[in-house]
Amino acid sequence: MKKEIIYLDHNSTTPCLPEVLEILRIYSLEKFADPDSPYIFGKEIKDHLENFRKIIADLISAEPEEIIFTSGGREANNLALFGIAFNKKKGRILISAFEHPSILKSAQKLSKLGFEIDFIPVNSQGYVEPEEVKRRIKPDTILISVTLANHEIGTIQPIKDIADICREKGILLHTDACQAVGKIHIDVKDLGCDLLSFTGHKMYAPKGIGALYIRKGINLSSLFLDNQKDLENGTKPVELIAGFAKACEIVKNDLPYESQRLIYLREKLYEGFKNIYSKIYRFGISEKTLPNTLTISFEGLDSIKILKDLPQICASPCSVSISAMKIGVEKIKGTIRFSLGRLNNLNDIEKTLEIFSEYFKKCLKI
Ligand SMILES: Cc1ncc(COP(=O)(O)O)c(C=O)c1O
Repeated sequence: MKKEIIYLDHNSTTPCLPEVLEILRIYSLEKFADPDSPYIFGKEIKDHLENFRKIIADLISAEPEEIIFTSGGREANNLALFGIAFNKKKGRILISAFEHPSILKSAQKLSKLGFEIDFIPVNSQGYVEPEEVKRRIKPDTILISVTLANHEIGTIQPIKDIADICREKGILLHTDACQAVGKIHIDVKDLGCDLLSFTGHKMYAPKGIGALYIRKGINLSSLFLDNQKDLENGTKPVELIAGFAKACEIVKNDLPYESQRLIYLREKLYEGFKNIYSKIYRFGISEKTLPNTLTISFEGLDSIKILKDLPQICASPCSVSISAMKIGVEKIKGTIRFSLGRLNNLNDIEKTLEIFSEYFKKCLKI
């Protein structure tokens, strides 16, 4: 990474950790056998693979056999929605209005295939209200899908309360946890969801590997084949799975310290922005938002222009999911997501504030 770049976009993707790269090297160059091969080399790798599955399952307190590997979050989301829909054959699916495009597009396709799709509104602070979920349930509702943490503003949704409602009504619950896993403590049993998607590249593992947690006893239909066991087919990318497992181990170990460190940096950034620009609007309630995420609107400005004018700052303009929150267009236009991570320190925060302060002084004559 160029020295002058300040990377504040860890919710988009993260770099691989050196320990992860080393594992990738070993499982690409040395321990590369196909785990389904009948000879000793293959069987040895199969044992390693199952150990990696256990480590990955442990991060969310699941059982190893409840984990299916996918190519990432999108595929896990597609598999969850289509897998349940095809298994149930017909019915209504409820999704929140600010889901990731991979959920929205799956729902769109399922609607064309004859499933009813309803949207649960999001309140002006960026949260789905369990009462709204309850209100929208109909006798033919088969599945509810609500993200665990929104990808643009990081608001953590009340999944546990929604799961209680689902259990009471006998409806399955999927949660897209691609932004949350590795950033907050997750225990699927405590959360009460039936399916949960997560992905490696948001937590310092390689791109191209993710997983779907499927609670024991839940049936999904394979998109292409007849057998549930074929959900995970093809030659397993053991090197990616090994890297994913290594990243899971590291983030799990560091989570208590790292989340406190990121909250400290995030609040420094927010306080700094408040001092240099008067019309700031912060999305979400800080205690109910991912520790690393600060999404703010610089009211009256255009986020795309700001980020174009400041190419050394890597952050994301937001608009798609926050439009579901029914807040003013002016706020949406100036919204930027700053997502911090292991690459950042206090120096980055101070430098970012300096760069923004200069920018506001120069361009806006503040
Ligand atoms: C909430 C959420 N779900 C799903 C995805 C897709 O994950 P992947 O890039 O691994 O397919 C992302 C990442 O863009 C995300 O933020």
